[in-house]
Amino acid sequence: MELRVDTVARHLRAALADATQPLCAYLYDLEALRRHSQAVVAALPAGCELFYAIKANSDLPILRTLAPRVAGFEVSSGGELAWVREHFPSTPLIFSGPGKTDAELRLALDSDVEAIHVESPHELQRLAWLAKAAGKTAPVLLRVNLPLPGLAATTLMMGGKATPFGIAVDQLPACLASLREARGLRLRGFHFHLLSHQLDAAAHVELIAAYLEQVERWCGAYGLDIDHVNVGGGIGVNYRQPQQQFDLAAFGAGLQRLRASRPGLPRLRFECGRYITAACGYYAMQVLDLKHTFGRDYVVARGGTHHFRTPYAQGHSHPFHVLPVEHWPYPWARPELRDATVHVVGQLCTPKDLLAFDAPVERVRVGDLLVFPYAGAYAWHISHHDFLRHPHPQHWYLPMEHADAADE
Ligand SMILES: Cc1ncc(COP(=O)(O)O)c(C=O)c1O
Repeated sequence: MELRVDTVARHLRAALADATQPLCAYLYDLEALRRHSQAVVAALPAGCELFYAIKANSDLPILRTLAPRVAGFEVSSGGELAWVREHFPSTPLIFSGPGKTDAELRLALDSDVEAIHVESPHELQRLAWLAKAAGKTAPVLLRVNLPLPGLAATTLMMGGKATPFGIAVDQLPACLASLREARGLRLRGFHFHLLSHQLDAAAHVELIAAYLEQVERWCGAYGLDIDHVNVGGGIGVNYRQPQQQFDLAAFGAGLQRLRASRPGLPRLRFECGRYITAACGYYAMQVLDLKHTFGRDYVVARGGTHHFRTPYAQGHSHPFHVLPVEHWPYPWARPELRDATVHVVGQLCTPKDLLAFDAPVERVRVGDLLVFPYAGAYAWHISHHDFLRHPHPQHWYLPMEHADAADE
């Protein structure tokens, strides 16, 4: 995951020259996204394929950069499905998500999706009924919430314990019986997404090995013939210690060993979100004020968690860079802090509008820019944009430098 802070800083400085208001912007580095997505695909051994979970960031320039490089997109709502089909009529799609409506399932059947990930016995029943009415056969993956004793927890668990996601293991026999009986359903495989924020490559390979062992047992016990296993997304980004990121090379090598040790494994499909787009995005805020109160230094900047909810949502202090800006329009001394420890807040009327805390800074002045990296996934797209009706940030996309033939 390459950060190109200098390139980004150059563009932000150029934008400041024309700014009439304090700057607040998202900047996406599409060249870095191109390189990173290619590196991820290249690291996966034969028999593995990468889908992109668009919930992380569904902006069109992002999707256009990724579409030629990944095997397809994973969409988790009717809205995402319609959005992708409008702009990418032939990209392979997986339709997933909890709480699907009949209208969404019908849309999936009409949109020629690769797979529908079913979340419950009742959803399976509805899908069979809808498929029969439409005279279609739905390609099904059963999402299972698998109990795995000893599973090391991350900061975001979607399964392996009580959660609303997936089918409980004791309900699986009934689902498989329905699949055998229903003419409108075809079982293609199983789906697991037990966790996000996985930072440990070896642990992730072990988790996938555990999924595959379980699938092998089910295939044997129920006489199933499946063509792939979707092992979810979940590869994490280390916001707390950005120098220590997920070891992609070790992950690829571990998967390679796993496949080599067990010939005949089904195809593995990944549907990663965060790890694909986080590092291509930056959120920039210009400093409006510095305050010292009750012994603490606050930096107040243009924007806030209504644009960039990631730190609050994940409970971390987000790393940032201070980009010095020399222009100072007022006829008085410029407020500044040196060698300080600061909390960075935005413009919202809530103490929860906190983007970084106890963060050391060498120097920060009113008018400088704060640049938050790793803001390309679950950032703008998970934020409550219209709280307080502040203007939305600008969205800028630095173009790819080496578009290949697939883009033309
Ligand atoms: C079912 C499912 N698949 C994939 C993803 C993408 O996960 P990540 O962004 O951690 O890779 C999510 C995220 O919530 C998910 O719920």
